[in-house]
Amino acid sequence: MDRNKRYEIDRLSLQKAQELFASGAINRMEVGTAKGLCEIHKYLFDGLYEFAGKIRKLNIAKGGFRFANCLYLEAILPVIEKMPEGTFEEIIAKYVEMNIAHPFLEGNGRATRIWLDMMLKKNLGKVVDWQRVDKDLYLQAMERSPVNDLELRVLLQPVLTDRVDDREVIFKGIEQSYYYEGYRKEED
Ligand SMILES: Nc1ncnc2c1ncn2[C@@H]1O[C@H](COP(=O)(O)OP(=O)(O)O)[C@@H](O)[C@H]1O
Ligand SMILES: [Mg+2]
Repeated sequence: MDRNKRYEIDRLSLQKAQELFASGAINRMEVGTAKGLCEIHKYLFDGLYEFAGKIRKLNIAKGGFRFANCLYLEAILPVIEKMPEGTFEEIIAKYVEMNIAHPFLEGNGRATRIWLDMMLKKNLGKVVDWQRVDKDLYLQAMERSPVNDLELRVLLQPVLTDRVDDREVIFKGIEQSYYYEGYRKEED
């Protein structure tokens, strides 16, 4: 896909992500389930990718890591969603498994970070303040996470905040999440 097309999709998707919170639609989605994650993905990419909200039927890899084989994706998603989410450690373990599943062709990072925050909010009354999470350290920790999630826990635990309904935390956090995936707002 050419760069301008990609930029335009990301720009429109960022607007949808902000709308997801501004409209309160996020509060009507299931927390911690595969269905909830599909709903978030559908909202972010509806009309932008034909696979919005749909489980992939192809195998994908990143940086030498191959995500779950699509042949058994349908079988593992119900197992992952049943993982406990009572503590920070459990929630991170569940997030890491969902990242390994990587259910969508594209947009897993952005959709699954929102899914993570909704689990943290519901169970712990906290969310990640993504503005305080460095892009390179985060991506490194994610690459490491299938082997060991310690790095990711050490990175995210200190920046948990109870300002869960703070617009600054939510909207800057969403922008940061899009920035991790290569999107940069045009300077004006
Ligand atoms: N080598 C890797 N191993 C495990 N997870 C990775 C790896 N590289 C990237 N990730 C995770 O995948 C996400 C990117 O997935 P992707 O489907 O492209 O989502 P998006 O389109 O939102 O960027 C990153 O944010 C990170 O969480
Ligand atoms: Mg991507």
